[in-house]
Amino acid sequence: MHDNWKCRYLEVTTALPAGRASLYGFGEHTKRTFRLQPNDTFTLWNEDLERSDLLDRNLYGSHPFYMDVRPGGNAHGVLLLNSNGMDILYGGSYITYKVIGGVLDFYFFAGPSPLAVVDQYTQFIGRPAPMPYWSFGFHQCRYGYKNVADLEEVVAGYAKAKIPLEGIWSDIDYMDRGQDFTLDPINFPVNRLRPFVDRLHSNGQKYVVIIDPEIKRQATPNEDFFLKRNGTNVVGRVWPGEVYFPDFINPRAVEYWAQKISEFRRTIPVDGLWCDMNEPSNFGAWQPLNALDDPPYRINNSGTHRPLNNQTLPVSTVHYNGVSEYDAHNLFGLYEARATHAALLKDTARRPFVLSRSTFPGAGRYVAHWTGDNSARWDELANSINTMLSFGLFGIPMVGADICGFRGNTSQELCSRWIQLGAFYPFARAHTERTTERRELYVWESTAQSARKAFGTRYRMLPYMYTLMYEAHTTGAPIARPLFFSYPQDADTYGVDKQFLLGRGVLVSPVLQPGATTVDAYFPAGRWFSLYDHNYPRTVDTRTGKRVTLQAPVDSANVHLAGGNILPLQQPGLTTSAARQGEFHLLVALAENGMASGELFLDDGESTEMGGVGGSWTLVKFSCSTEESKGIITTTVSSHVVHNSYTPSRAPVIGKVVFMGLQSPAKGFTIYVNNVELKAARTKSRTSGALSVSGLSLAIGKEFKIKVVMSH
Ligand code: NOJ
Repeated sequence: MHDNWKCRYLEVTTALPAGRASLYGFGEHTKRTFRLQPNDTFTLWNEDLERSDLLDRNLYGSHPFYMDVRPGGNAHGVLLLNSNGMDILYGGSYITYKVIGGVLDFYFFAGPSPLAVVDQYTQFIGRPAPMPYWSFGFHQCRYGYKNVADLEEVVAGYAKAKIPLEGIWSDIDYMDRGQDFTLDPINFPVNRLRPFVDRLHSNGQKYVVIIDPEIKRQATPNEDFFLKRNGTNVVGRVWPGEVYFPDFINPRAVEYWAQKISEFRRTIPVDGLWCDMNEPSNFGAWQPLNALDDPPYRINNSGTHRPLNNQTLPVSTVHYNGVSEYDAHNLFGLYEARATHAALLKDTARRPFVLSRSTFPGAGRYVAHWTGDNSARWDELANSINTMLSFGLFGIPMVGADICGFRGNTSQELCSRWIQLGAFYPFARAHTERTTERRELYVWESTAQSARKAFGTRYRMLPYMYTLMYEAHTTGAPIARPLFFSYPQDADTYGVDKQFLLGRGVLVSPVLQPGATTVDAYFPAGRWFSLYDHNYPRTVDTRTGKRVTLQAPVDSANVHLAGGNILPLQQPGLTTSAARQGEFHLLVALAENGMASGELFLDDGESTEMGGVGGSWTLVKFSCSTEESKGIITTTVSSHVVHNSYTPSRAPVIGKVVFMGLQSPAKGFTIYVNNVELKAARTKSRTSGALSVSGLSLAIGKEFKIKVVMSH
């Protein structure tokens, strides 16, 4: 507790070389650009504004972290590890922190590359939690699925339209009058809901429900781990009416939470939990009780300097061990996330999936995140990239925005374009507000077409995305990355935020404007192969970075693979488990020098550990190189098995390898697989330089070598 006002205002200013420092981070805010703009003020105070579509307002989480990238590509990161409310002024040549409590505890992450910064940062705050394989599938949600029949209809709608659907979600509609761990007895009775969930499971699909942190007020509570003010339980007002808030800092609240989750899962075996309203949100404001409630400096809460006590708990609330809400407010979501993750882990002994609205540094150890209550508007479509990329820096790489927008009605065109982008969010879920017109992806033929195409591509790319999850978990590398992560020396990438990379080399260039038939995309130096038609690659080959105007088909975003990368692909499917049954393909995109590399991580997708000692997992590195001697060019792709303890009953095999960017064979070519010549009938050559070697059956756990020998 701070009774001295001097402890409630700290200010420090740091110097930056104006015009040379590109800054990214500080959140959570919806930003116009990913790169921070001089003269922006970033307020950090976890808040439920009931919308996330207003620019630069403090939103659900607080991340006092930024990355600074300098011309030439040197990067470093700076964290102010402080949970108090603050205003951060970025003036171009300086940053001023105005903090209303705690201490100035700064940490510097020296880089020097952007990847090294996130590696160092997540080593400090905690590595991103491994997410289950299924969570990379497509999810459908809506506030307002009114009963089990409604859910059934949606699941059937997806199946009929042949659009992948991995998870169907229930918002608070399933609850009995808004209360956690209950079921609406009329619309979601257990004898209807349980068989529905069992059917989903037998079809390889999942069910996720929302939970809110508050508990309905009881006349005589048996438990005593609720937050207090002035010695009595704080009574707030949320969905169930009058409520108490468990204090997730108190170990007894954590135990209670685990017990309730476990009991609920005995009734309905949900696959994941969605923690909403955990800023925490509360409908209303409070009168000040003591000096904490009215600190001498008012941060720019909500963009209107509104009191800290609005729409949340009063900051004079007291937690376990006398910790004040004034100091711990921004940690509420983190503690709830940790408790929820621990509860699922204990109950299921499987890898938990928790989606949390509120976050703080370290939350990525437990949760995925979505960008909250966005709106069905074109600017919101574009801004979603900025938030997604920011969360990659914050150590929460599993992130996405509500596809097609949460608030307001959409147009078919906007929804189609959103699907085309959203299919490449690490976390891909469509969710809408209850007053909106229905817009499940099958409702319109145009969106259904985009969904089949975009999610068809995503599902083929699942082995790659899951390998990126492994990379995130072990090194902190974001799944969706800004271009400068791969091209730090190219200063023209620093301002690019209308495109992004998945991993090192998959470039997504979505349409973000209404009526567009083309899209202007920036391509860093190198070769780029269109992912959609690699049999006839429309390539971009450039010695310096350049802007290219691409055709923008109505049903898909442009996706290019950078030369130098080997992409592991699998087959499309309507669920991730179906997609996992098929054979693997390798897409080898040669760089100018004839080289490429990539990797593949495999496990059962749900063991609690991802990698690690004693686990069952396989990691294979692929590399490709080219040599020329006496007019003969030999390109060799080979695998190196780093670890191989994942041995499913059906051994995964590679059935096809596609080479892109080979020099066109003038006189023909010969292919050797493990030094044995392969019959030409199994190959297909295109004048474009793509060569497809199919009919293979290479066990992933065994090292192999494929040689393409071409003579001039
Ligand atoms: C607010 C959440 O952000 C939104 O996604 C949800 O639909 C509503 N709460 C209702 O639970």
